[in-house]
Amino acid sequence: MEVVKGHEMRDIDRYTIEELELPGPVLMENAAMAVVSETINQVREAKRVVICCGVGNNGGDGFAIARILQCNHVQVSIAIIGDYEKIQGDAYTNFQVARNLEIPMIACRTEDDLADLAQLLSCADVIYDAIFGTGLSRHITGIYEQAIHCINQSNAYIIAVDTPSGVHVDTGQILGMAIRANRTITFCLPKVGLLLHPGTDYTGELVVADIGIPDKSIRYVKPSMMLMDDHMCKHLLPKRKQESHKGTYGKTLMIAGTSNMAGAAVMTTLAAYRAGTGLVKVFIEENVAHTIPSCVPEAIVETYCRGEFLSKVDKEKLIANLEWADAVAIGPGLGNDSITRELLECVLRYYHKTLVIDADGLGSLSLDKAILDTASCDIIITPHLGEMARLTRSTVEEVSKDIIGVAQAFSKQYNLVCVLKSARTIITSPEDDTCINVYGNAGMATAGSGDVLTGIIVSLIAQGLKPYDGALLGVYLHSKAGDCAKKNLGEYGLMATDVIRHLPDVMK
Ligand code: APR
Repeated sequence: MEVVKGHEMRDIDRYTIEELELPGPVLMENAAMAVVSETINQVREAKRVVICCGVGNNGGDGFAIARILQCNHVQVSIAIIGDYEKIQGDAYTNFQVARNLEIPMIACRTEDDLADLAQLLSCADVIYDAIFGTGLSRHITGIYEQAIHCINQSNAYIIAVDTPSGVHVDTGQILGMAIRANRTITFCLPKVGLLLHPGTDYTGELVVADIGIPDKSIRYVKPSMMLMDDHMCKHLLPKRKQESHKGTYGKTLMIAGTSNMAGAAVMTTLAAYRAGTGLVKVFIEENVAHTIPSCVPEAIVETYCRGEFLSKVDKEKLIANLEWADAVAIGPGLGNDSITRELLECVLRYYHKTLVIDADGLGSLSLDKAILDTASCDIIITPHLGEMARLTRSTVEEVSKDIIGVAQAFSKQYNLVCVLKSARTIITSPEDDTCINVYGNAGMATAGSGDVLTGIIVSLIAQGLKPYDGALLGVYLHSKAGDCAKKNLGEYGLMATDVIRHLPDVMK
């Protein structure tokens, strides 16, 4: 399913109204009808329902909702937040109808009106938030801030119309203050900010309602982002052929593990096998190499000596293995020193297929991103927020404010696929593809989780997937396996190896 930014939704609305000549009031009526049909069962039981309307079109939806609810014998009142003299256009039409129907209405324009608002809200069972929608353009202050605070203080069930007021629809950031909704009925397509933290915590349960906007309008605007779903990922899964052998499913090379982090190499290797690749070879320093066959007997091991420099012999060995591999991953548990840097430089220079760079590989990269210019392979990077902050010489706070924008910019600038990992993982390509993953759970915030993801992605690439598709399917399988593990174990005791164990179920 497509996901839109505020300006894309406005373009979809504009095209529908101006080019297709579907009248705006029809869309407003459909939107109000959709909200009522999604919520009527809940409000039928309610003794008092309050609709909080702003002075823009989101408020217009609110006036129409009030009318339709009253027609359905629901006891409804309206609170207008802001200067009602500014109401115009289709919103004004619905405002007038609500007045003509004598729906009880209070105006909340100044601080003096707040006591009336508080009184009205105190006896509400359900509150609809129709203060701001996609038109919110700046920080919330003054009467709006106070009214939102008042609504959040109430014990009522809160339903947000299109967006919870105060959530930035493009980034999910809170513009000073926001409604904490229990449910949000959004129109036509999900708005990206409702899927990202912290906005998603204010959104509650998200319902996407059809309001009669034709597909032609969506195709015209071509939204740039997708929401990861089962349908999108299912067809990417590499087919297993009856007539095949291990070479059919790709040769994967892992450059991973060092003295205190050999487990990372084990987990990434196990995950790669569980994700279906035919052969995994681990290029690992000789003094910890024995951990690999003892934990993954199926793995092939190639060793090198981790001295001060990479010897000529070891470098040649690495180049020979690069020639062998259908896909390569570098970084998990590899160590943060000059040898890692040498290994990365060598791979970038001599490898010609697809390389996944993770963990300590990214640490090296952040010291000198110019080495990417020497690359002759396709690249996928899998940074978490801290690694991305180092790569962009920024802070985790800055990256968190706009995870999509940061991932898109990095992909474009360095011509690579970026998997920016967080509670909402973002996958971007230099060709402007962007996908948001909302699967997975807090149990996956555990050591080794990223190593497992790298193993899955490189395995899928070795099986023939293109870089963006491999990253997409890898993130999907990883988070779905995490959700399966959570179902069986809960979140607390969940470990990265549990995610690996549940991979075959998800793939099946
Ligand atoms: N503080 C005060 N006023 C603001 C702020 C703010 N922080 N941000 C925007 N406004 C004002 C704008 O100047 C405008 O008058 O709020 C109004 C816009 O509010 P919206 O109703 O969100 O925007 P609008 O474009 O009119 O409607 C979009 O209509 O299609 C429906 O619900 C759907 O979300 C959609 C909405």
